[in-house]
Amino acid sequence: MIRSRSSAVLFLTALVLSVTAQEIRLEHHLEHFTSIRNPTAFNKEAWIDARSYILDQFRSYGLNTTSQPFNTSVDDNGSDKTVRGENIIGIAEGSPGPIILVGADYDTSLLQSSPLEDNGAGVAAMLEIARNYMSQMYHNKEYSITGTVLFVAFDINTKEYDDNSVGQPGSYHFLHQWLWPYLNNRVDNFMGAYILDSISKYNLEENSQVLPGDFETNFPEAHEDIVRKGRKGDFLALVTRKSESNSLLAQTIYDNYNNDRKARMFRLLELTIKDGAEFGDSFDLFDHQANYHFWTFQPGKEPKPLPAILLSDTGYFRKPSDQCPSPCSASAFLTRARNSFMTKTSEAMVQTLADILTDRSKHNSSTTTVASWLSVVVLVLFNKIWC
Ligand SMILES: *[C@@H]1O[C@H](CO)[C@@H](O)[C@H](O)[C@H]1NC(C)=O
Ligand SMILES: *[C@@H]1O[C@H](CO)[C@@H](O)[C@H](O)[C@H]1NC(C)=O
Ligand SMILES: *[C@@H]1O[C@H](CO)[C@@H](O)[C@H](O)[C@H]1NC(C)=O
Ligand SMILES: *[C@@H]1O[C@H](CO)[C@@H](O)[C@H](O)[C@H]1NC(C)=O
Repeated sequence: MIRSRSSAVLFLTALVLSVTAQEIRLEHHLEHFTSIRNPTAFNKEAWIDARSYILDQFRSYGLNTTSQPFNTSVDDNGSDKTVRGENIIGIAEGSPGPIILVGADYDTSLLQSSPLEDNGAGVAAMLEIARNYMSQMYHNKEYSITGTVLFVAFDINTKEYDDNSVGQPGSYHFLHQWLWPYLNNRVDNFMGAYILDSISKYNLEENSQVLPGDFETNFPEAHEDIVRKGRKGDFLALVTRKSESNSLLAQTIYDNYNNDRKARMFRLLELTIKDGAEFGDSFDLFDHQANYHFWTFQPGKEPKPLPAILLSDTGYFRKPSDQCPSPCSASAFLTRARNSFMTKTSEAMVQTLADILTDRSKHNSSTTTVASWLSVVVLVLFNKIWC
């Protein structure tokens, strides 16, 4: 009796407090990313539809949008073929301040077995981050926004189609032709990028996390942690270079993710890349995603590395926990575990953008106060009725 009563109280409190909590709704986005999205696919409809869906969503959140066409080449049945891709960009401009990017690839390779996993999930999360950021912070008069967020969906990741691809991926073209001029050719105008690439796999089984060769040498602390906990695929990896591992960008997402007491079953694990190390198979953890082109950015004679953080479930190094029947629908894909894992990432990202870009003194918004008072009133009433 006592038990059910206290859980009822907890439930009510949660209900009331969630008045101001974020609302992450992934499924309706995922429905648009269930099929192969590739420029050499026989049926290109899913690819083209995904593009216009993202653009429409960005617009509906109140972002300024633009798309950046580019030409690249891909292998088409044994010969190089020039194809046209399009990066989709949503801009939330604040008063002058840091420029932060949140990005995800939206295409797939031709043979991708799970277009939702790689990388429909990353795009869906990015859309929810954008939607929540715009509705709760950007369009909320209680916040003053200092700085700009660029939400970017990258097209044609040639590096995922073929390791030896000559054509450069959409993220590379975005950096050289769009971002660099936008930054007035200055590295210090850019705070950094968060790249969401494969963020839905979560597996509590022992030995579900495969560790590539050289992992122990390169990431000794993460290795020890994973082995001690039974080699489970129960974490999201935060991959940074050594020079940026203590940056505000890395630290803020780390704190927001790991300090949330409600969701202790998930954790963010840092994989810090030291310059000059030999990576062996571990290279595959971070070399084909967009972050790699930020790190190796070289617009002229000199390398100009740009800060970027990869958030990833480690992709094929992690065994899936619940296989989705093929073809996999968005609702079958979005199991409780996947939904919670992706929601956790999205919420931590929204909070991170708020922490970095909004004025902290304005954080005690009146809505929070109203919600707290409301919860007190409900609890008092509840106790009166119950007792
Ligand atoms: C891509 O190629 C087409 C046809 O060759 C050309 O018209 C177009 O300007 C190119 N686009 C870019 C962005 O380079
Ligand atoms: C691919 O190329 C091979 C040999 O050149 C040809 O027989 C085959 O029909 C081609 N397949 C497609 C889908 O075009
Ligand atoms: C969109 O651009 C206009 C004109 O530059 C600017 O006034 C407005 O603040 C921008 N909106 C967003 C969401 O960035
Ligand atoms: C926010 O809350 C803190 C502590 O509750 C208080 O000291 C501060 O004055 C508040 N700021 C505003 C703008 O209300």
